[in-house]
Amino acid sequence: MPLQWKFLSPPPKPKSGAEEQFRTIFARYPHASWVLDRATLRVLAVNEAAALQFGYSAKALLGVSYLDLLTPEDAVSMQRTLNQRTNSRGPAHWRMRTNNGEVIHVEVSWRPVPFNRVPALLLVIESTRQSMRRLERETDEGRERLEALSKRLVEIQEAERAEIARELHDEIGQLLTGLKLMMTLPGTLADAGNGNGTRAAGTPEMIKIVSELIGRVRDLSMDLRPPMLDEIGVVAALQWHFERYTRRTGIKVSFDHPASNPRFPASLEIAAFRIIQEALTNTARHAGVDHVLVELRADPEYLRLRIEDLGHGFNPDLEPAGRSAGLTGMKERALLIGGQVTIESARDAGTRIFVVLPLRGTGSTWN
Ligand SMILES: Nc1ncnc2c1ncn2[C@@H]1O[C@H](COP(=O)(O)OP(=O)(O)OP(=O)(O)O)[C@@H](O)[C@H]1O
Ligand SMILES: [Mg+2]
Repeated sequence: MPLQWKFLSPPPKPKSGAEEQFRTIFARYPHASWVLDRATLRVLAVNEAAALQFGYSAKALLGVSYLDLLTPEDAVSMQRTLNQRTNSRGPAHWRMRTNNGEVIHVEVSWRPVPFNRVPALLLVIESTRQSMRRLERETDEGRERLEALSKRLVEIQEAERAEIARELHDEIGQLLTGLKLMMTLPGTLADAGNGNGTRAAGTPEMIKIVSELIGRVRDLSMDLRPPMLDEIGVVAALQWHFERYTRRTGIKVSFDHPASNPRFPASLEIAAFRIIQEALTNTARHAGVDHVLVELRADPEYLRLRIEDLGHGFNPDLEPAGRSAGLTGMKERALLIGGQVTIESARDAGTRIFVVLPLRGTGSTWN
């Protein structure tokens, strides 16, 4: 049905300041809003948002039959709805045509109102599927950006840790070792001229402190980034980590792993190592046990991890309180390489963490 353009005479002048205010509010109201003659469904008033949405000027829409803006099927549906449910208020879903011929899906609510003593309907478009689609697109784009950013952050964090670990080990560690050597060598500068050319340059206390410093620097460097993770792989790095973990916490680790020493892509090995590291830290902090089981299995498609303790347990469905980031970080790391973390736990029923990391598409050489 073609649009029938018919212009009404301009609305009467406002009688009061309050009326003028309401006119302004209606004009500026951000949702597309229409006032229709109840009997004819012609447009008595329309606001800026509606004119903009449909690509007409507000003036051009005055007097137009609202039915002409709907698709023919929905024009019938609208009339039926309004006739059958005089006092209904929506929402109803109709398809409408804009000035450039595009069909948009709208959700509409309405209320009866008097307008210049004519029985009228105030009709408000609450949402359009078009805008929903835009929102969905924007959400998807936002999620992709956030994912890329998280991935980059993890990479930067790992690179920085490796850099600091190298610096500590190669630079500071070497200097300290040199210093210790100088202190233990007999007859150096410190005791020149005192006639005792064979005494060590440092006192035993000084040498002990420097030895301790060397040990601390090495530990710090190892904690930041165990070199065996890059050199001989995740299984060896884990074995080394478990030994230190047991020494520090008293918790024994049963490690079930392939007899061979399989290698995986670096991103996977780092993720697996960090996830297990955090899971074990949690066991030590929260589980109250003296034993934990770690399993690492690989098939041609997936690297699978299981970390299990029989300790206090917790409700994994509850949002972690405060600023705890361990479990979230674990899931995030897995997600970033296309994997997944599943946590099974309950109060006093222990904790099982299952991790699946895909090998396909990562260029893995393991099979
Ligand atoms: N193995 C476990 N046994 C019992 N409770 C656990 C275990 N692992 C996690 N939890 C519970 O889940 C909570 C969240 O763990 P998460 O690692 O996210 O945080 P956190 O360890 O408290 O702090 P952080 O950010 O330093 O890791 C913990 O506070 C603890 O209550
Ligand atoms: Mg934690």
